[in-house]
Amino acid sequence: MLLTTRLLAVLALVLCATGAPSTISPHVVHESRSNVPRGWAPVRRAEPTMILPLRVGLVQSNLEHLEDFVMDVSHPESSHYGKHWSAAKVAQTFRPTKESADTVRAWLVESGVDPTSVRVSAGGGWLKADVTVEQAESLLGTEYHVYQFGEDDSRVHVACHEKYHLPEHVAKHVDIVTPTLHFDVKPKLGAPQEVALDKRDGVSSDVSAHAVGQPGFGVSFPKTTGTIGTIFNELENCDEQIVPDCLRVLYSFEYIPFATDKNSIAIVEYTPQAYLPGDLDLFFGNFSPSQVGQRPVLESIDGGYDQTEYEGFGENGESDLDLQYSMSLVGPKQTVTLYQAGDLYEGASFGNLLDALDASYCTFEGGDNPEFDATYPDPYGVGYEGPEDCGTVTPAYVMSTSYSYDEVELTPAYEQRQCAEYAKLGLMGTTILYSSGDYGVAGNGGICLDSEGYESYDGTVFNPSFPGTCPYVTSVGATQVNPGASVYEPESACEQVIYSGGGFSNVFAMPSYQKAAVEHYMATYPPSYSDGTYNTSGTSRAYPDIAANGANYVVAIDGEFSLVYGTSCSSPVSASIFSAINDARLTIGKGPIGFINPTIYTPLFMEAFNDITTGNNPGCNTNGFSAEPGWDPVTGVGTPNFAKLVGLWLALP
Ligand SMILES: *[C@@H]1O[C@H](CO)[C@@H](O)[C@H](O)[C@H]1NC(C)=O
Repeated sequence: MLLTTRLLAVLALVLCATGAPSTISPHVVHESRSNVPRGWAPVRRAEPTMILPLRVGLVQSNLEHLEDFVMDVSHPESSHYGKHWSAAKVAQTFRPTKESADTVRAWLVESGVDPTSVRVSAGGGWLKADVTVEQAESLLGTEYHVYQFGEDDSRVHVACHEKYHLPEHVAKHVDIVTPTLHFDVKPKLGAPQEVALDKRDGVSSDVSAHAVGQPGFGVSFPKTTGTIGTIFNELENCDEQIVPDCLRVLYSFEYIPFATDKNSIAIVEYTPQAYLPGDLDLFFGNFSPSQVGQRPVLESIDGGYDQTEYEGFGENGESDLDLQYSMSLVGPKQTVTLYQAGDLYEGASFGNLLDALDASYCTFEGGDNPEFDATYPDPYGVGYEGPEDCGTVTPAYVMSTSYSYDEVELTPAYEQRQCAEYAKLGLMGTTILYSSGDYGVAGNGGICLDSEGYESYDGTVFNPSFPGTCPYVTSVGATQVNPGASVYEPESACEQVIYSGGGFSNVFAMPSYQKAAVEHYMATYPPSYSDGTYNTSGTSRAYPDIAANGANYVVAIDGEFSLVYGTSCSSPVSASIFSAINDARLTIGKGPIGFINPTIYTPLFMEAFNDITTGNNPGCNTNGFSAEPGWDPVTGVGTPNFAKLVGLWLALP
């Protein structure tokens, strides 16, 4: 093997020198995966003739400056604070080199891929070609298998086995190739997809067999303890039932928007999650009568629509919750946009959403322009006049998503690529909120890692959540009004039904904005766990960043009111508050707050959060971490105090 590799290397040198095709360079492993996500097993080789939409993510320029760029427009002490970038500047700055595109293109074509099928995205970040499984196997030195979820042969996924290779001279130009190892990338199958596996006892997340098309497999759902008879809707009862008025008091959030024509907020849902119009009206009738009949504005992404074929807590719980609370909290004047991603059969992943939002992708995804597409194979010469023309979804100023994976379920390169996309959205002025997960220090469904890094229900190693660990999103944990306590007393970390996701990444390095806050926690309240229990390097990204109430929400679902729990509640509520701050700034002619983390970790802004100092986030047979004064890996810097925050943010340029 070694000999062969050397021989090939020598051959490649000789051939290059004589100008022969450069495809003969040794193949090197590009990405590997030791974890097949839980519940999945290979059942057979993929049919050689099956078509795969192969996408090659090229190495982007200037990524080494990403953190500096983001800090430059997001840190309150920077002279460029709030000077967000245009989509065109983002596309131009990170555009891969022509050499990268040419090298990958030449490799595909010399390997037999039809040149007319090779497309380059407008931003130059991706090359795409439809290839057969047989072609992909030879291109990537791998084997594609059909994986099946449990015993259910209707839930299948095509992925390559363990690792894939690239020729050495190509590899240095490539971040990732999809679909390969990543279980959230959908090959075209037309078959129902994965659903979550939830092993927590006694609490239903009610994932029905019809719950096709969720983003991948490790999705987190809100939890319910069932329907309720009497709705109190009184501030005295916020410890038992959270209704919008409780949240307004908890977070000093009274606001009437003025700049609704300029402002925007979006909730992200993945089909089959869908709201029921009747549920919105049932909720509004009780809690915001003037909004009866009001609906979110649908932005369909990759065929997303509000399906009504399947109903149940698993299909409607998340969307009903997110929309009822965000719409009532921002009030009747402010439109809430719904990014509904994926159709019923293929589903969608975070990648589909990012495709639709990143204007630089638009010539082949989320806004196809056949005219431009037809002009390829010349990727650069022709007619492309900038992202404005591409007809993609314009990113809202605030976006909330309540779905997450376990970090270990995707590959580091894949996560880093997606995380960089969130950073770009931040550069453009968007606040991205993700729920931090509902299982404390454990992964979705309560699963942990064993000492080798495999997911295992017997594991004792903490299992962080993605995208919460991406340093360019704002990760939102959960709190509760303590049983018997009033809404005016301090909240604790949520310890009812769910536990606030939090901990330390195994993939992402610690961003500079949180260094002082995290070091304070580690020095003052050192967790007593041994080194292997979580990433104790002191150099990894810690989460969550903030928190908001996540217990006992009164939500209208399938015609009845249920009590709902989860960081799924915390994220849209926080989004509504930040959206109101944007409104206040837009009203006086300032820009949106954009990526908030560098701001909220400053001592001045930390003071404007309600510090949560009690409660834990258990998991993996431990008590997890503890909420303490200052930032902590349970509730971040605390819950927002709108009245204080809006004043501080209005004072920034
Ligand atoms: C800890 O996190 C860092 C990122 O800062 C990473 O490079 C390292 O591999 C992680 N350690 C483990 C054991 O995963």
